[in-house]
Amino acid sequence: MGQQLSNEQLVASAKEFGTPLYIYHAEKIKEQYEKLAAAFSILDTRFFYASKALTNINILRYIKSIGCNVDCSSINEVKLALHAGFIPGNILYTSNGIAFDEIEEAVAAGVHINIDSLSNLEKFGKKYGHTYPVGIRIRPNIMAGGNLKISTGHEGSKFGIPVSQLDKIEELVREHTIFIKTLHIHTGSDIKDADVFVKGMEVLFDIIPHFPELEIIDLGGGFKVPYKPGEKETDVHLLAKKIKETFEAHPLAGNKKFQLWFEPGKFLVSECGYLVTQVTVVKDTGTTIFAAVNSGLNHLIRPMMYEAYHHIENISNPGGTEKVYTVTGNICETDNFGIDRKLKEVREGDLLVLYNAGAYGFEMSSNYNSRYKPAEVLVINDKTKLIRKRDEFNDLLRNQLEVL
Ligand code: LLP
Repeated sequence: MGQQLSNEQLVASAKEFGTPLYIYHAEKIKEQYEKLAAAFSILDTRFFYASKALTNINILRYIKSIGCNVDCSSINEVKLALHAGFIPGNILYTSNGIAFDEIEEAVAAGVHINIDSLSNLEKFGKKYGHTYPVGIRIRPNIMAGGNLKISTGHEGSKFGIPVSQLDKIEELVREHTIFIKTLHIHTGSDIKDADVFVKGMEVLFDIIPHFPELEIIDLGGGFKVPYKPGEKETDVHLLAKKIKETFEAHPLAGNKKFQLWFEPGKFLVSECGYLVTQVTVVKDTGTTIFAAVNSGLNHLIRPMMYEAYHHIENISNPGGTEKVYTVTGNICETDNFGIDRKLKEVREGDLLVLYNAGAYGFEMSSNYNSRYKPAEVLVINDKTKLIRKRDEFNDLLRNQLEVL
């Protein structure tokens, strides 16, 4: 479980900054990073935080301060990373489905790039030839990840260049003398099983001989974190050991030392985050007791989008008797946060906290129903700092042109 903020700290922040409120705990991010770094110290490894999980500029700066690099999924994330102070050499842009001009911008910025289509690889080759070392994202045709929506390496997936199109990749590389520096795969999110990463490596090892200038094997992100009490995260020590063995077992890898890259998102920031909400209505329908809170799928979409489990607790009534509730939001469509959850008796006005809200929480939030996005605070060195103001009415009108 590691470090956690206490209920008192969560309640105090909610009192000071209001609800709904995203609270992040800096030292938890560090704990997770150090766990990874320690596990992989047996290999030459670099970590690039998948910033799509949470891009608040203060989080990016904190990530930088602990020595981690950053992975981006859009040119704007690249710009945010630069704004946060990362040097281009510590920024990776793993693109998918993008127009070539974004790649040109990324080249101009001097960041590492992974290309995921033959079409962009061809344009890249024509424009840059051998001058700009680049990575290619391979689709290994492996099914992995917590659910289909977050599985990215399988045969039906849009991501990467199918490994079966190796001949086409080779043709382009030969024709334009493209400098292929990296082979990248990312098979999904919520992957507990270390063998999935090993399987991915096996696919890459088969094609490594075709890329003589290769320096880096990038295995993407996807490490699992515990969402339910008692669940286990990916055993990163076991994973590092297995990956080392895979390298050593492979005759080709023996001749050349590849650097290993990872792009963890959830592993670094999921558990650091808490969404604190306030109960607005308790409604007993005879069959279900609904506890409605002042938030919803507009603030945390994961339960409705992926049927993701987020643990919920009533932090206002720790001594209350347990009852079963369905915790819902206040959005004008079904937006359950948790069905049939045992909670200490819930009263209107109580604070309910949703755990694991750091990754893909605020980041996927919206103004649906014209509700405000929550504020975000960062707890660092036992001090709580506001890092994003709550929306206000003008934010709903911002960018709208009132022509009528
Ligand atoms: N690298 C690439 C190329 C990715 O596409 C992703 C995530 C990551 C790294 C980081 O994966 P992580 O370590 O966070 O599992 N919104 C979904 C997850 C979508 C992940 C998209 N790509 C969720 O809330 O579960």
